[in-house]
Amino acid sequence: MNDGSVKNPGIEFWDAVRGHEGAETGQVRSQVTSIDSTTLINPMGEEWRLYRMDMLIPTAAIVLGLTLLAIVLFRLIRGEIKIQGGYSGQKIKRFSTFQRYVHWTTAILFIVLALTGVILLFGRYIVIPVFGAEIGGTLTWLCKRTHDFAGPAFGVALLVMIITFIKGNMPSRIDLQWLLKGGGLFGKHASAGRYNAGEKAWYWTIALAGTLVVLSGLVLDFPNFDQGRNTMMYSHWVHSIGAVILIAFAMGHIYMGTIAMQGAFEAMQTGYCDSNWAKEHHDLWYADMQEAGKIDEPTNEPAGTLQLADNKS
Ligand code: HEM
Repeated sequence: MNDGSVKNPGIEFWDAVRGHEGAETGQVRSQVTSIDSTTLINPMGEEWRLYRMDMLIPTAAIVLGLTLLAIVLFRLIRGEIKIQGGYSGQKIKRFSTFQRYVHWTTAILFIVLALTGVILLFGRYIVIPVFGAEIGGTLTWLCKRTHDFAGPAFGVALLVMIITFIKGNMPSRIDLQWLLKGGGLFGKHASAGRYNAGEKAWYWTIALAGTLVVLSGLVLDFPNFDQGRNTMMYSHWVHSIGAVILIAFAMGHIYMGTIAMQGAFEAMQTGYCDSNWAKEHHDLWYADMQEAGKIDEPTNEPAGTLQLADNKS
């Protein structure tokens, strides 16, 4: 029996197979000259695979599940956030056509990336058991291709969005007061300028985490710049963690921008918001608009063409 004192004669050979030692000593040679071509087995690959299956995917499922639960609980506790004074019929221009195009282009690309990314992450557990391996394989291939092409386009849209919306999103002292008052969601009125602290947090999350997700995605999308397997693994790690954070935050943003708050969606849909909505949610911005004489005369038209909830109070 070998008590460890006798060295395995094959140890150098297997060291060479598993790592770079062989390349350095000339034991492993390859016709292919690219990086990692003399690494026959990358032990970190298995570690990464196990981490992805046992840690990343379950954690992502918990984070996204809890986010959904939080939204449902918030809905049950707070209900729809109505315009207290009702629609005034007075409109204020909130977003230009350019800003709206930038928003929706980025949002649509993000949603495509989020849906295809989620299928790539959870497909093995959801798609294959339900639809079978054949449909699962085809769907995964389709998602992968779509994801690969939508990613760089999202990168461009994100850059334009960061520049377009930076005005009004710089942190200020009012944000702290807004946060301390819980955003005025449970009673006390919380003052806000053009954007409140919640919106600013979303802007900076998408700007910073979004940039990381795009850059790491580009490393994965274009493996032809001599980045090694470990670089690809670290990029994959940053990419998936960043993406899960963004998707969770986006779920909250989409909820607030649609069925949660009366009068919010139409600002991004038509470019105009109702003056009572502005007064109640962005009073400091409303005061600025009033001072600048930028509040239109009342009309009988509904403030937005898409009335998502019981909007006509
Ligand atoms: C169906 C999906 C979405 C809906 C319904 C939606 C809705 C809205 C609405 C209503 C506003 C205006 C809020 C206000 O007037 O204060 C807004 C602002 C904004 N949205 Fe979205 N949005 C969606 C997806 C996204 C996505 C995916 C992103 C980023 C990738 C995004 C980034 C922004 C930004 C940067 C603003 C400007 C306000 C701020 O800086 O927070 N939105 N959105």
